[in-house]
Amino acid sequence: MFTTKELQEKVNRYIANWSYSHRPKGLYAPIEYVLSLGGKRLRPVLMLMAYNMYKEDVDAILPSAVGLETYHNYTLLHDDLMDRADMRRNKPTVHKVWNDNTAILSGDTMLVLAYQQMTQSDSAHLKEVLDIFNKTALEIGEGQQYDMEFETRDDVTEDEYIEMIRLKTSVLLAASLQIGAVLGNASAEDASRLYDYGIQLGLAFQLQDDYLDVYGDEAQFGKKIGGDILCNKKTYMLINAMLRADEQQSAELRHWIEAHDYVPTEKIRAVTALYDAIGIRELCDKKIAHYFDCAERILAQVQVDEGRKKMLREYAASLMHRTV
Ligand code: IPE
Ligand code: IPE
Ligand code: MG
Ligand code: MG
Ligand code: MG
Repeated sequence: MFTTKELQEKVNRYIANWSYSHRPKGLYAPIEYVLSLGGKRLRPVLMLMAYNMYKEDVDAILPSAVGLETYHNYTLLHDDLMDRADMRRNKPTVHKVWNDNTAILSGDTMLVLAYQQMTQSDSAHLKEVLDIFNKTALEIGEGQQYDMEFETRDDVTEDEYIEMIRLKTSVLLAASLQIGAVLGNASAEDASRLYDYGIQLGLAFQLQDDYLDVYGDEAQFGKKIGGDILCNKKTYMLINAMLRADEQQSAELRHWIEAHDYVPTEKIRAVTALYDAIGIRELCDKKIAHYFDCAERILAQVQVDEGRKKMLREYAASLMHRTV
């Protein structure tokens, strides 16, 4: 069985040797830029690990694994435009280095490149793989739309938030695992259990992302801290802060959410201080641990030898305390 590091290296090597680049350079250079910046390679690693629970020749599915990573990076180009985010992976985002139109068009091109990779999946499973991928891609768009619509709403519930992050983030982790299992000839039950496992893992993962957006270390996290606060993103933290705030804290929170003219660093500092005072950090920690726990309980039901689950289990455990 392969370690996380070995799988990440396989993905990185494949991407480094992949020649998709044609002319004009203005279209392909941003793609090369974002794909070469690395990142955790979480989705292809999950897919390869799920496959590796059943089969050894992980190289056989590298094209589709890179397809998922390319798809993920495409969503990031558009997401950074939507979230007005200037930094990712410690580098300026594509729309900053180039411009908005480049982020749109290079992003669109990456979506097509992702499909070119996905269609290289073993023909016996191709229809099933593409069905999962298409369903997932539609759901991610739905999640991203909710995420944006929630910015201007002040009555978003925790349940709505969880459903939004299930759509925008969890389903891609879940599909990565499911596709890996399908290609590995797992039983339909196992493939669906791994999908459910990915959903729980993804909820924990996005909660952490929102947490790190407030409490992370900028240099490690690679993104600007406080971006979600500036966009009035209805995160688990903001929703619960509003619910638990006393009258004065509630008025202060509302002031910052409704403010038009403000110094960004002051808004970030004030909202973070409110989170601290209300005890949101601990609450969020607990919720993250809860979803990791749910994930682990589903993994326990997957019908392979415990030894075959080792890498995935260790990888999930390493994600539990992530700072990146
Ligand atoms: C960022 O994904 C978008 C989210 C779903 C939170 P990752 O945190 O996996 O980003 P990279 O690919 O490692 O940079
Ligand atoms: C990203 O959510 C979800 C997708 C890209 C589909 P975020 O907007 O929180 O991701 P980051 O923080 O920009 O990576
Ligand atoms: Mg976003
Ligand atoms: Mg974003
Ligand atoms: Mg985020």
